[in-house]
Amino acid sequence: MQEFEQSDAIKRLPDQFFAKLGKKVQAMIDEGHDVINLGQGNPDLPTSDHIVKALQKAAENPVNHKYSPFQGFPYFKEAVADFYKREYNVDLDPETEVALMFGSKIGLFEVSQSLLNPGDTALVPNPGYPDYLSGVALAGAQPELMPLLEENGFLPDYNNLSKEMLEKAKMMFLNYPNNPTAGVATKEFFDETVALAKQHDFCVVHDFAYGAIGFDGVKQPSFLSSEGAKDVGIEMYTLSKTYNMAGWRVAFAVGNPSVIQTINLLQDHLFTSLFGAIQEAATVAISGDLSYVEKLVDIYEDRRNVLIESLNDIGWKVSAPKGTFFAWFKVPEGYTSREFADLLLDKAQVVVADGSGFGSLGEGYVRLGLLDSEERLKEAAERIGKLNLF
Ligand SMILES: Cc1ncc(COP(=O)(O)O)c(C=O)c1O
Repeated sequence: MQEFEQSDAIKRLPDQFFAKLGKKVQAMIDEGHDVINLGQGNPDLPTSDHIVKALQKAAENPVNHKYSPFQGFPYFKEAVADFYKREYNVDLDPETEVALMFGSKIGLFEVSQSLLNPGDTALVPNPGYPDYLSGVALAGAQPELMPLLEENGFLPDYNNLSKEMLEKAKMMFLNYPNNPTAGVATKEFFDETVALAKQHDFCVVHDFAYGAIGFDGVKQPSFLSSEGAKDVGIEMYTLSKTYNMAGWRVAFAVGNPSVIQTINLLQDHLFTSLFGAIQEAATVAISGDLSYVEKLVDIYEDRRNVLIESLNDIGWKVSAPKGTFFAWFKVPEGYTSREFADLLLDKAQVVVADGSGFGSLGEGYVRLGLLDSEERLKEAAERIGKLNLF
């Protein structure tokens, strides 16, 4: 069998961290272990019944059996504009300022393809969601890493980025509430970001994947709520987390019309649009009474409280995340992140994500997902406690 050589673009892709972790966990499950998997970001609860019913009904409509119109059905884009007005008081033109996407993971690649040339640079958070780097690499561009440090609340310190770096950058990725650190942003931080982007003429891509998941009654700000944000950037919003719809593959990008139209142009060549029935069901998800989203956030907040209390009980002194469904904890002294994550997997059958998989500054931390029941989170803490590490 002939083996065909991969293109240079494919060779540039970094290792896929989550795919590797998934294989390791599956091997343990196959060996018959009762594994508590807090390592991934896959919501454990089902999509709300009223959204599933909307999909079932829409799937019976022959209109949806055809190719959907390029760039999607106007009703979905109008619902997105209504959603942003209602939730964030942001005005959007559904025709020119909304792009529908098959999940934000692909959207992150699309925006890099849309704006970056070989040799360009993009500012990328360290630690950060790994796909920012993948998209930049596929476009042949270079990442410039922005440190996210605990002492700065895991926000980049713009005063510490060099002038050359800012001048050269064509794009900046941000993500708040943040994966993996669970750090949160304020409107003031986004105001500062808009001013910086205007000064240095780069495009801000704010990944708002966990936008709805803020705790202790604090609503997380949209980047687009800052004055002038639309002049300098876009925001990506996925239904995966807020609505437990990760398997459905539906998200949207909103904001700067030149960027949105470039993403749409690229998509005209890659796809027609999402399955019409998914567009109908997603419209139902983001419209009307959203109290079921509040209930979901309450569930994560209760799980967070149980996890923090149980870990503090076993002597692992950790503080409570303010948003996302992740917790980002320092590993005990004497261990690297990898060693500690391996120890928990081998000796307690508890999966946590090795922080170094999110970048060099993730070393010294592990990420735990609040993606199992309160009982299982308690049990995970008990199993870790039995190892007498703290
Ligand atoms: C920060 C962040 N961005 C984007 C995504 C991708 O989400 P999706 O492709 O399901 O919209 C994820 C998923 O885990 C994420 O954590």
